[in-house]
Amino acid sequence: MTELTIDFDYIDRVGEGKLDLEWLHSWNHEVGEKVTPSRVGLTMKDIAVGRYGDIPDTAPMRTMAPRGGEREDVMPDMGYLLNTKADVWAENVMDLYEEAVSRQWSATRDIDWSSIPDLPPDLEHALCQVCTLLSEVEMIASDFPAKWMWQINHDFVEVKMFRATQIMDESRHTEVFRKRALAKGGGLGRSKAVTEEFLRLILDAETYSEGSALMHLLGEGMVLSLFRAGELLSPSPVEKKIFRLCMQDEARHVAYGTMHLRYALAQDPDKAEEYHEYLDKGERILAALFTIPEAVEPLMILAAGGEEEAAALGAMAAGMLQTRVIEEYLARCDRAGIDRRSRIQIPGVIGGYDPVEQGVTSDAALAGSAGTGGA
Ligand SMILES: [Fe+2]
Ligand SMILES: [Fe+2]
Repeated sequence: MTELTIDFDYIDRVGEGKLDLEWLHSWNHEVGEKVTPSRVGLTMKDIAVGRYGDIPDTAPMRTMAPRGGEREDVMPDMGYLLNTKADVWAENVMDLYEEAVSRQWSATRDIDWSSIPDLPPDLEHALCQVCTLLSEVEMIASDFPAKWMWQINHDFVEVKMFRATQIMDESRHTEVFRKRALAKGGGLGRSKAVTEEFLRLILDAETYSEGSALMHLLGEGMVLSLFRAGELLSPSPVEKKIFRLCMQDEARHVAYGTMHLRYALAQDPDKAEEYHEYLDKGERILAALFTIPEAVEPLMILAAGGEEEAAALGAMAAGMLQTRVIEEYLARCDRAGIDRRSRIQIPGVIGGYDPVEQGVTSDAALAGSAGTGGA
Protein backbone atom coordinates (compact mmCIF):
# COMPACT_ATOMS: atom_id res chain seq x y z
CA MET A 1 0.00 0.00 0.00
CA THR A 2 1.26 3.50 -0.84
CA GLU A 3 2.28 5.50 2.23
CA LEU A 4 0.22 8.66 2.56
CA THR A 5 1.84 11.85 3.82
CA ILE A 6 -0.83 14.26 4.97
CA ASP A 7 0.00 17.94 5.32
CA PHE A 8 -2.66 19.12 7.78
CA ASP A 9 -1.07 22.60 7.91
CA TYR A 10 -2.36 23.07 4.37
CA ILE A 11 -5.89 23.54 5.79
CA ASP A 12 -4.64 26.45 7.89
CA ARG A 13 -2.76 28.00 4.95
CA VAL A 14 -5.86 27.81 2.72
CA GLY A 15 -7.86 29.41 5.53
CA GLU A 16 -5.40 32.32 5.39
CA GLY A 17 -5.84 32.59 1.62
CA LYS A 18 -2.41 31.11 0.81
CA LEU A 19 -3.29 28.73 -2.00
CA ASP A 20 -0.61 26.40 -3.33
CA LEU A 21 -1.34 26.81 -7.07
CA GLU A 22 1.81 24.96 -8.13
CA TRP A 23 -0.36 22.50 -10.12
CA LEU A 24 -1.90 25.45 -12.00
CA HIS A 25 1.24 27.47 -12.69
CA SER A 26 3.16 24.44 -13.91
CA TRP A 27 0.32 23.22 -16.19
CA ASN A 28 1.87 21.58 -19.24
CA HIS A 29 -0.77 19.07 -20.19
CA GLU A 30 -2.17 20.67 -23.35
CA VAL A 31 -2.83 17.97 -25.91
CA GLY A 32 -1.10 19.94 -28.63
CA GLU A 33 -3.76 19.38 -31.26
CA LYS A 34 -7.08 20.98 -32.03
CA VAL A 35 -10.11 19.08 -30.78
CA THR A 36 -12.96 19.41 -33.26
CA PRO A 37 -16.44 18.02 -32.61
CA SER A 38 -17.82 15.89 -35.42
CA ARG A 39 -21.28 16.30 -36.95
CA VAL A 40 -23.00 14.29 -34.20
CA GLY A 41 -21.24 16.02 -31.30
CA LEU A 42 -18.00 15.52 -29.41
CA THR A 43 -17.16 11.84 -29.74
CA MET A 44 -14.55 9.69 -28.00
CA LYS A 45 -12.68 9.58 -31.30
CA ASP A 46 -12.74 13.39 -31.60
CA ILE A 47 -10.95 13.76 -28.26
CA ALA A 48 -8.44 10.95 -28.95
CA VAL A 49 -5.76 13.33 -30.19
CA GLY A 50 -2.29 14.39 -29.08
CA ARG A 51 -0.85 12.85 -25.93
CA TYR A 52 -4.29 11.66 -24.80
CA GLY A 53 -4.91 9.86 -28.10
CA ASP A 54 -1.63 7.97 -27.85
CA ILE A 55 -2.76 4.52 -26.70
CA PRO A 56 0.22 2.51 -25.41
CA ASP A 57 0.96 -1.01 -26.64
CA THR A 58 1.77 -1.87 -23.03
CA ALA A 59 0.30 0.15 -20.18
CA PRO A 60 3.17 1.63 -18.14
CA MET A 61 1.29 1.46 -14.81
CA ARG A 62 -1.72 -0.23 -13.31
CA THR A 63 -3.59 2.88 -12.22
CA MET A 64 -6.93 4.55 -12.89
CA ALA A 65 -5.20 7.86 -13.71
CA PRO A 66 -6.49 9.04 -17.09
CA ARG A 67 -4.27 8.45 -20.11
CA GLY A 68 -2.34 11.52 -21.24
CA GLY A 69 -2.34 13.16 -17.82
CA GLU A 70 0.34 13.32 -15.14
CA ARG A 71 0.82 10.63 -12.50
CA GLU A 72 2.85 10.41 -9.36
CA ASP A 73 5.83 8.10 -9.57
CA VAL A 74 4.25 5.65 -7.16
CA MET A 75 0.51 4.99 -7.35
CA PRO A 76 -1.64 2.26 -5.80
CA ASP A 77 -1.49 -0.89 -7.93
CA MET A 78 -5.00 -1.68 -9.20
CA GLY A 79 -3.92 -5.22 -10.07
CA TYR A 80 -5.06 -5.23 -13.70
CA LEU A 81 -4.23 -8.41 -15.60
CA LEU A 82 -4.93 -7.25 -19.16
CA ASN A 83 -2.21 -4.67 -19.63
CA THR A 84 -1.41 -4.81 -23.33
CA LYS A 85 -3.38 -3.29 -26.16
CA ALA A 86 -3.37 -6.64 -27.98
CA ASP A 87 -5.19 -8.20 -25.00
CA VAL A 88 -8.36 -6.16 -25.48
CA TRP A 89 -8.25 -3.61 -28.27
CA ALA A 90 -10.37 -3.38 -31.40
CA GLU A 91 -9.94 -0.59 -33.93
CA ASN A 92 -13.70 0.05 -34.03
CA VAL A 93 -14.25 0.23 -30.27
CA MET A 94 -14.66 4.01 -29.99
CA ASP A 95 -17.23 4.14 -32.79
CA LEU A 96 -19.08 1.19 -31.29
CA TYR A 97 -19.26 2.90 -27.91
CA GLU A 98 -20.75 6.04 -29.47
CA GLU A 99 -23.28 4.02 -31.41
CA ALA A 100 -24.23 2.04 -28.32
CA VAL A 101 -24.89 5.18 -26.31
CA SER A 102 -26.95 6.80 -29.04
CA ARG A 103 -29.07 3.73 -29.82
CA GLN A 104 -30.24 2.63 -26.38
CA TRP A 105 -33.91 1.65 -26.28
CA SER A 106 -36.43 0.59 -23.67
CA ALA A 107 -38.08 -2.82 -23.60
CA THR A 108 -40.84 -1.26 -21.50
CA ARG A 109 -41.59 1.79 -23.62
CA ASP A 110 -40.51 1.04 -27.19
CA ILE A 111 -42.41 -2.22 -27.73
CA ASP A 112 -46.16 -2.01 -28.27
CA TRP A 113 -47.02 -4.81 -25.85
CA SER A 114 -50.77 -4.23 -26.06
CA SER A 115 -50.90 -4.91 -29.80
CA ILE A 116 -49.65 -8.52 -29.82
CA PRO A 117 -52.37 -10.56 -31.56
CA ASP A 118 -53.81 -13.74 -30.04
CA LEU A 119 -51.89 -16.51 -31.77
CA PRO A 120 -52.78 -20.19 -32.18
CA PRO A 121 -51.24 -22.16 -29.28
CA ASP A 122 -48.62 -23.88 -31.47
CA LEU A 123 -47.21 -20.55 -32.68
CA GLU A 124 -47.45 -18.86 -29.27
CA HIS A 125 -45.75 -21.77 -27.51
CA ALA A 126 -43.06 -22.09 -30.18
CA LEU A 127 -42.33 -18.41 -29.77
CA CYS A 128 -42.26 -18.76 -25.98
CA GLN A 129 -39.73 -21.61 -26.33
CA VAL A 130 -37.48 -19.44 -28.54
CA CYS A 131 -37.83 -16.61 -26.00
CA THR A 132 -36.90 -19.04 -23.21
CA LEU A 133 -33.66 -20.01 -24.94
CA LEU A 134 -32.81 -16.39 -25.73
CA SER A 135 -33.64 -15.17 -22.25
CA GLU A 136 -31.38 -17.94 -20.93
CA VAL A 137 -28.36 -17.25 -23.16
CA GLU A 138 -28.42 -13.47 -23.52
CA MET A 139 -27.07 -12.66 -20.10
CA ILE A 140 -23.84 -14.63 -20.56
CA ALA A 141 -22.80 -11.67 -22.67
CA SER A 142 -23.29 -9.48 -19.59
CA ASP A 143 -21.70 -11.89 -17.13
CA PHE A 144 -18.59 -12.57 -19.24
CA PRO A 145 -17.55 -8.92 -19.79
CA ALA A 146 -18.49 -8.10 -16.20
CA LYS A 147 -16.18 -10.86 -14.97
CA TRP A 148 -13.22 -9.52 -16.95
CA MET A 149 -13.92 -5.80 -17.04
CA TRP A 150 -12.10 -4.80 -13.84
CA GLN A 151 -8.99 -6.63 -15.08
CA ILE A 152 -8.65 -4.36 -18.14
CA ASN A 153 -6.03 -1.66 -17.68
CA HIS A 154 -7.54 1.81 -17.48
CA ASP A 155 -5.32 3.00 -20.37
CA PHE A 156 -7.74 1.03 -22.57
CA VAL A 157 -10.77 2.66 -21.00
CA GLU A 158 -12.72 2.80 -24.26
CA VAL A 159 -12.90 -1.00 -24.18
CA LYS A 160 -14.25 -0.88 -20.63
CA MET A 161 -16.80 1.74 -21.62
CA PHE A 162 -17.97 -0.32 -24.57
CA ARG A 163 -18.23 -3.43 -22.40
CA ALA A 164 -20.38 -1.44 -19.98
CA THR A 165 -22.82 -0.66 -22.81
CA GLN A 166 -22.89 -4.33 -23.75
CA ILE A 167 -23.72 -5.33 -20.20
CA MET A 168 -26.74 -3.01 -20.35
CA ASP A 169 -27.71 -4.22 -23.85
CA GLU A 170 -27.78 -7.85 -22.77
CA SER A 171 -29.74 -7.04 -19.67
CA ARG A 172 -32.36 -5.48 -21.96
CA HIS A 173 -32.31 -8.51 -24.27
CA THR A 174 -32.94 -10.84 -21.34
CA GLU A 175 -35.73 -8.50 -20.28
CA VAL A 176 -37.44 -8.22 -23.66
CA PHE A 177 -37.54 -11.98 -24.37
CA ARG A 178 -38.71 -12.73 -20.84
CA LYS A 179 -41.45 -10.13 -21.25
CA ARG A 180 -42.53 -11.58 -24.61
CA ALA A 181 -42.75 -15.11 -23.17
CA LEU A 182 -45.01 -13.84 -20.41
CA ALA A 183 -46.90 -11.06 -22.21
CA LYS A 184 -49.66 -13.35 -23.47
CA GLY A 185 -49.45 -15.81 -20.60
CA GLY A 186 -47.62 -18.51 -22.62
CA GLY A 187 -44.86 -18.75 -20.06
CA LEU A 188 -41.21 -19.69 -20.05
CA GLY A 189 -40.44 -23.10 -21.51
CA ARG A 190 -37.76 -25.72 -21.27
CA SER A 191 -34.03 -25.20 -20.67
CA LYS A 192 -31.50 -27.79 -21.81
CA ALA A 193 -28.20 -28.79 -20.21
CA VAL A 194 -26.25 -28.61 -23.49
CA THR A 195 -27.03 -24.93 -23.83
CA GLU A 196 -25.60 -24.25 -20.43
CA GLU A 197 -22.50 -26.33 -21.24
CA PHE A 198 -21.67 -23.75 -23.89
CA LEU A 199 -22.43 -20.86 -21.53
CA ARG A 200 -20.17 -22.37 -18.92
CA LEU A 201 -17.38 -22.79 -21.45
CA ILE A 202 -17.52 -19.02 -22.00
CA LEU A 203 -17.73 -18.12 -18.33
CA ASP A 204 -14.92 -20.51 -17.38
CA ALA A 205 -12.62 -19.47 -20.25
CA GLU A 206 -9.04 -19.30 -19.02
CA THR A 207 -8.25 -16.14 -20.94
CA TYR A 208 -10.20 -13.10 -22.04
CA SER A 209 -9.29 -13.80 -25.66
CA GLU A 210 -10.59 -17.37 -25.48
CA GLY A 211 -13.88 -16.28 -23.94
CA SER A 212 -14.16 -13.39 -26.37
CA ALA A 213 -13.71 -15.65 -29.42
CA LEU A 214 -16.22 -18.19 -28.11
CA MET A 215 -18.78 -15.62 -27.08
CA HIS A 216 -18.60 -12.98 -29.80
CA LEU A 217 -17.74 -14.94 -32.90
CA LEU A 218 -19.59 -18.12 -32.15
CA GLY A 219 -22.32 -17.54 -29.54
CA GLU A 220 -23.40 -13.98 -30.25
CA GLY A 221 -22.68 -14.47 -33.93
CA MET A 222 -25.27 -17.24 -34.09
CA VAL A 223 -27.78 -15.20 -32.11
CA LEU A 224 -27.17 -12.30 -34.50
CA SER A 225 -27.92 -14.53 -37.48
CA LEU A 226 -31.13 -15.61 -35.76
CA PHE A 227 -32.14 -11.99 -35.18
CA ARG A 228 -31.42 -11.22 -38.83
CA ALA A 229 -33.92 -13.92 -39.69
CA GLY A 230 -36.50 -12.11 -37.53
CA GLU A 231 -38.72 -11.32 -40.52
CA LEU A 232 -39.05 -15.05 -41.19
CA LEU A 233 -39.64 -16.01 -37.58
CA SER A 234 -41.97 -13.25 -36.32
CA PRO A 235 -45.68 -14.00 -36.11
CA SER A 236 -46.51 -10.27 -35.74
CA PRO A 237 -44.93 -6.82 -36.17
CA VAL A 238 -44.26 -6.74 -32.41
CA GLU A 239 -41.75 -9.61 -32.58
CA LYS A 240 -40.27 -8.14 -35.77
CA LYS A 241 -39.50 -4.97 -33.89
CA ILE A 242 -38.03 -6.88 -30.93
CA PHE A 243 -35.70 -8.83 -33.23
CA ARG A 244 -34.73 -5.71 -35.18
CA LEU A 245 -33.83 -3.72 -32.09
CA CYS A 246 -31.87 -6.62 -30.56
CA MET A 247 -30.11 -7.16 -33.90
CA GLN A 248 -28.69 -3.62 -33.86
CA ASP A 249 -27.23 -4.18 -30.41
CA GLU A 250 -25.93 -7.66 -31.21
CA ALA A 251 -24.20 -6.46 -34.37
CA ARG A 252 -22.10 -4.10 -32.23
CA HIS A 253 -21.01 -6.86 -29.86
CA VAL A 254 -20.07 -9.17 -32.70
CA ALA A 255 -18.28 -6.33 -34.50
CA TYR A 256 -16.13 -5.72 -31.41
CA GLY A 257 -15.29 -9.42 -31.01
CA THR A 258 -14.44 -9.82 -34.68
CA MET A 259 -12.20 -6.77 -34.77
CA HIS A 260 -10.59 -7.62 -31.42
CA LEU A 261 -9.57 -11.02 -32.73
CA ARG A 262 -8.29 -9.36 -35.90
CA TYR A 263 -6.21 -6.92 -33.86
CA ALA A 264 -4.85 -9.62 -31.53
CA LEU A 265 -3.87 -11.86 -34.46
CA ALA A 266 -2.23 -8.99 -36.33
CA GLN A 267 -0.03 -8.37 -33.28
CA ASP A 268 0.79 -12.05 -32.82
CA PRO A 269 -0.10 -14.32 -35.77
CA ASP A 270 1.36 -17.31 -33.89
CA LYS A 271 -1.74 -17.23 -31.66
CA ALA A 272 -3.96 -18.48 -34.50
CA GLU A 273 -3.69 -22.11 -33.41
CA GLU A 274 -4.80 -21.23 -29.88
CA TYR A 275 -7.91 -19.56 -31.27
CA HIS A 276 -8.58 -22.52 -33.54
CA GLU A 277 -8.55 -24.79 -30.51
CA TYR A 278 -11.02 -22.57 -28.61
CA LEU A 279 -13.33 -22.54 -31.60
CA ASP A 280 -13.01 -26.31 -32.13
CA LYS A 281 -14.26 -26.82 -28.58
CA GLY A 282 -17.11 -24.32 -28.85
CA GLU A 283 -18.30 -25.49 -32.26
CA ARG A 284 -18.48 -29.10 -31.08
CA ILE A 285 -20.86 -28.12 -28.28
CA LEU A 286 -22.90 -25.81 -30.48
CA ALA A 287 -23.22 -28.53 -33.12
CA ALA A 288 -25.20 -30.47 -30.51
CA LEU A 289 -27.72 -27.64 -30.35
CA PHE A 290 -28.81 -28.47 -33.90
CA THR A 291 -29.90 -31.90 -32.60
CA ILE A 292 -32.09 -30.59 -29.77
CA PRO A 293 -35.83 -30.56 -30.60
CA GLU A 294 -36.46 -27.67 -28.19
CA ALA A 295 -33.93 -25.55 -30.11
CA VAL A 296 -34.72 -26.55 -33.71
CA GLU A 297 -38.46 -27.26 -33.83
CA PRO A 298 -39.78 -23.94 -32.48
CA LEU A 299 -37.86 -22.21 -35.27
CA MET A 300 -39.30 -24.64 -37.83
CA ILE A 301 -42.85 -24.00 -36.58
CA LEU A 302 -42.40 -20.23 -36.61
CA ALA A 303 -40.74 -20.18 -40.04
CA ALA A 304 -43.34 -22.50 -41.59
CA GLY A 305 -46.32 -20.86 -39.85
CA GLY A 306 -47.61 -23.72 -37.69
CA GLU A 307 -47.08 -27.23 -36.36
CA GLU A 308 -48.57 -29.03 -39.38
CA GLU A 309 -46.83 -26.78 -41.88
CA ALA A 310 -43.53 -27.43 -40.09
CA ALA A 311 -43.62 -31.12 -41.02
CA ALA A 312 -43.86 -30.20 -44.71
CA LEU A 313 -41.81 -27.01 -44.92
CA GLY A 314 -39.94 -26.78 -41.65
CA ALA A 315 -36.88 -28.82 -42.63
CA MET A 316 -36.25 -26.58 -45.61
CA ALA A 317 -36.68 -23.43 -43.51
CA ALA A 318 -34.46 -24.78 -40.73
CA GLY A 319 -31.87 -25.88 -43.30
CA MET A 320 -31.82 -22.40 -44.83
CA LEU A 321 -31.51 -20.84 -41.40
CA GLN A 322 -28.71 -23.17 -40.37
CA THR A 323 -26.88 -22.55 -43.61
CA ARG A 324 -27.14 -18.84 -43.08
CA VAL A 325 -25.89 -19.12 -39.50
CA ILE A 326 -22.85 -21.13 -40.64
CA GLU A 327 -22.15 -18.92 -43.67
CA GLU A 328 -22.21 -15.79 -41.58
CA TYR A 329 -20.02 -17.39 -38.94
CA LEU A 330 -17.40 -18.47 -41.49
CA ALA A 331 -17.45 -15.01 -43.05
CA ARG A 332 -16.95 -13.44 -39.62
CA CYS A 333 -13.94 -15.71 -39.01
CA ASP A 334 -12.51 -14.67 -42.39
CA ARG A 335 -12.92 -11.05 -41.41
CA ALA A 336 -11.17 -11.69 -38.10
CA GLY A 337 -8.30 -13.29 -40.03
CA ILE A 338 -8.85 -16.91 -38.99
CA ASP A 339 -9.85 -19.47 -41.61
CA ARG A 340 -12.32 -21.99 -40.20
CA ARG A 341 -13.57 -23.31 -43.53
CA SER A 342 -11.51 -26.49 -43.51
CA ARG A 343 -11.80 -26.98 -39.78
CA ILE A 344 -15.41 -26.25 -38.84
CA GLN A 345 -16.88 -28.77 -36.41
CA ILE A 346 -20.53 -28.05 -37.21
CA PRO A 347 -21.84 -30.40 -39.87
CA GLY A 348 -24.37 -29.06 -42.38
CA VAL A 349 -26.98 -31.53 -41.22
CA ILE A 350 -30.42 -30.10 -41.91
CA GLY A 351 -31.22 -30.28 -45.59
CA GLY A 352 -27.79 -31.81 -46.27
CA TYR A 353 -26.21 -28.45 -47.11
CA ASP A 354 -22.55 -28.06 -46.32
CA PRO A 355 -21.27 -24.50 -46.88
CA VAL A 356 -17.67 -25.70 -46.97
CA GLU A 357 -18.43 -28.27 -49.68
CA GLN A 358 -20.48 -25.67 -51.49
CA GLY A 359 -17.50 -23.31 -51.47
CA VAL A 360 -19.48 -20.49 -49.89
CA THR A 361 -17.34 -17.37 -49.87
CA SER A 362 -17.24 -14.64 -47.31
CA ASP A 363 -18.38 -12.14 -49.94
CA ALA A 364 -21.54 -14.13 -50.62
CA ALA A 365 -22.30 -14.41 -46.93
CA LEU A 366 -21.59 -10.78 -46.20
CA ALA A 367 -23.74 -9.64 -49.08
CA GLY A 368 -26.70 -11.13 -47.23
CA SER A 369 -25.87 -9.53 -43.92
CA ALA A 370 -26.50 -6.14 -42.39
CA GLY A 371 -25.36 -4.41 -39.27
CA THR A 372 -22.51 -2.63 -37.64
CA GLY A 373 -18.96 -2.86 -38.80
CA GLY A 374 -19.74 -5.38 -41.51
CA ALA A 375 -19.24 -8.12 -38.98
FE1 LIG B 1 -27.84 -10.03 -26.80
FE1 LIG C 1 -24.68 -9.50 -27.48
